Amino acid sequence: MSHATAIKKDKIFFHDLHTPTASMANDVHSGLSGKQKSLPPKYFYDKKGSELFDAITKLPEYYVTRTEIELLKQYVPEMAELLGINSYLLELGSGSSIKIRLLLEALRPEIYVPIDISREHLIASSQRLIQDYPWLTIHAAYLDYSHPWAVPDFGPGRYNAFFPGSSIGNFDPANAIQLLKQISQLVGRDGGLLIGVDLKKDVGILEAAYNDSQGVTADFNINLLTHINDGLDADFVPENFSHKAIYNEDKGRVEMHLECNINHSVRIESNLYPFQTGETIHTESSYKYSIDEFHQIAAEANFAPVEVWTDADELFSVHYLKVG
Ligand code: AVJ
Repeated sequence: MSHATAIKKDKIFFHDLHTPTASMANDVHSGLSGKQKSLPPKYFYDKKGSELFDAITKLPEYYVTRTEIELLKQYVPEMAELLGINSYLLELGSGSSIKIRLLLEALRPEIYVPIDISREHLIASSQRLIQDYPWLTIHAAYLDYSHPWAVPDFGPGRYNAFFPGSSIGNFDPANAIQLLKQISQLVGRDGGLLIGVDLKKDVGILEAAYNDSQGVTADFNINLLTHINDGLDADFVPENFSHKAIYNEDKGRVEMHLECNINHSVRIESNLYPFQTGETIHTESSYKYSIDEFHQIAAEANFAPVEVWTDADELFSVHYLKVG
C-alpha cells in the first residue's frame, strides 16, 4: 500500500450506525398495508435513482438545485462568518454535490460528518472529497436519519449541521419537527443549522418542476418500484403504473403518486397486495414553506432564526438557525 493511500485512509473514519428496524421490508409492508398506499421517498435513491435525480437537478423546470447553488455561491462568505470557521460540520444526505464543496472551502471545518443512507455513496463521495481536500478529516456516518439516530461526539467545539436541497420537505410537519429536534440536540448549545427550504409559490411553477417535459421525474418515480423489486423478493410491473404529481394547496405540498392503470396484485415476499385501477401509491411529499411558516416549525425544535437568504424571484430560501 502506498504512503498516500495510508494517509488518505487515516483521514476517513467509517461509522456503521444503521439500525435493523430501518429495513426496506418493514417500510414497504407498512406503506402498502394502509388505505392510502404509500412508499417512502428515501427508496428513490438506488444507483439508477441517484442518476435520475442528478438529471432532475439539471432540468429547466426544476429550479430547486440551481437556485440553492446560486444562493450558496453568492452568500457563502456571509454564511461562513455566521457558522464560524474551524467548526465541526455535519451534513444530512448527499456529500457529493457542489454545495458541500462551497461550504467546506469557506469553513475549513476540523471534522466533516456526512450522514447518508447509502453506504456506497457515502464511501465514494468521502473518498472524492479527501482527494480534493487533503486537510480534511471525515467521519462518515452510515444511517437512516428518518429513524431516531445519533452520531459520535467529537469533543468540545462549535457544531453546525447542513441540510440542503429542501429534503426537510419530505417530512410531514410533525416529523420535520422531530428531525429538527434531533439535529438541535446533536449540535447542542451554540450549535447551528444551515438549511435549504423550498418556498411556497405559483402552482404552475411547482407542478411543472415535478412534471418535467422530458419525463425524467416520471422515470425517477417509477424507478422506485424497480428498486423494491431488486431489494426485496417482489414482482412490481413498472408498466402497470404511471407518474402523477400535483400540488396539494391545503397541505402546502407537492405530492407524487404512482397511479395504477390495471387491476392486479403485487407479490412481495410472502404477501400479496391488491391494486385497483385508478388507485395510487403516494411516493413523496415535498412540503413548501413561507419563511414565517418555517420559522414556526424551527421554533418548535428549539431553533431561533439568525438569517435567511432568498433569490430575487423568491423561489428558494436558505436559513441559518441557532439553538436556543
Ligand atoms: C430531494 C426531496 C428535495 O422534493 O424536490 C425531485 C426530490 N422529487 N423531484 C424534491 C424530488 C421529485 C426533491 N428532494
